[in-house]
Amino acid sequence: DTFVSFHHFSNKLRPPSFGPNILEDVFDMFCIGSVPMWTLLGSCVGLLEGEFGETSKNTDILLVTTPKSGTTWLKAILFVIENRTRYADMNQHLLLANNPHDLVPFLELKLYVDKQVPDLTSFTSPRLFATHLPFSSLPESVMCSASKLVYLCRNPMDTFVSLHHFANKIRPPSLGPNRLEDVFDMFCKGVCICGPFWDHVLGYWKESLEKPQKVLFLKYEEMKEEPIIHLKRLAEFLGCSFSLEEETLGVVDEILRLCSFDHLSSLEVNKNGKLSSGEENKAYFRRGEVGDWKNYLTDEMVDRLVQIGEQKFVESGLKF
Ligand code: A3P
Repeated sequence: DTFVSFHHFSNKLRPPSFGPNILEDVFDMFCIGSVPMWTLLGSCVGLLEGEFGETSKNTDILLVTTPKSGTTWLKAILFVIENRTRYADMNQHLLLANNPHDLVPFLELKLYVDKQVPDLTSFTSPRLFATHLPFSSLPESVMCSASKLVYLCRNPMDTFVSLHHFANKIRPPSLGPNRLEDVFDMFCKGVCICGPFWDHVLGYWKESLEKPQKVLFLKYEEMKEEPIIHLKRLAEFLGCSFSLEEETLGVVDEILRLCSFDHLSSLEVNKNGKLSSGEENKAYFRRGEVGDWKNYLTDEMVDRLVQIGEQKFVESGLKF
């Protein structure tokens, strides 16, 4: 009864333009414990779309990530790339005094968690937004417009370890920390704020293969390994490639330095500032490395994640 009631309720909340959720899909998500955010977040973006008459513009850029895959880093990079003529002097850059999450907001978290209706008129074009929504929950206007999606993912081992640390940092101390073994089991079963990790990645991976001009698929590890190549790829995808002159002047290196983990995490705003939701900015900077999972996961845990990945990604060509 709970499920059926929930299914009807979320379909009532969904804007008609989305069409209703399919009962079988939602049932499957419900069984693995992943329904509420998955469907309600869709409704939430729909609220923005329907209730406030807001639809995606052709010039919009939407950054999509699973939590803890390096969103903060890519928000900073996207903001700097897109605004590089407006803030040409990197010593006076807005990023020096603002956390990337304040510059590129998560619409659904603003509305749902902060209970604020973002003032979309204050955004300059191109508007930069971020979301953790799975592909299947994106509002229709995002897919119908010529807006661009940049998807960033990270290997599941580091994503999980980062998520575990983050969740413990923001948990009220009175609750005590989560046990790694417990949350690991939930992660493997797909119980995550925006649905199962693998389905999330796969949804955007498939779309990036079908519509490469629409969806750019990036991996945290590859960005770490060859940042210059991927920064240029990103700028080209967004239609604002670096000119020869910019390259000669070292603009690419300068952007990477500005957005680097060491630089961002050492800024006063990120050491002592807070987001409007009350979270401390420093919670978004921990180690910023590839492979930290080796310090936390047992061989059995790694095997389990590898097996799930093999099952989920079979025939997709996707590997971590
Ligand atoms: P770790 O916990 O492994 O250190 P998100 O931004 O999606 O919440 O992801 C947070 C993860 O990205 C954290 O990973 C954090 O340290 C890392 N991170 C934050 N800023 C970064 C940057 N500028 N470069 C690389 N990694 C960064």
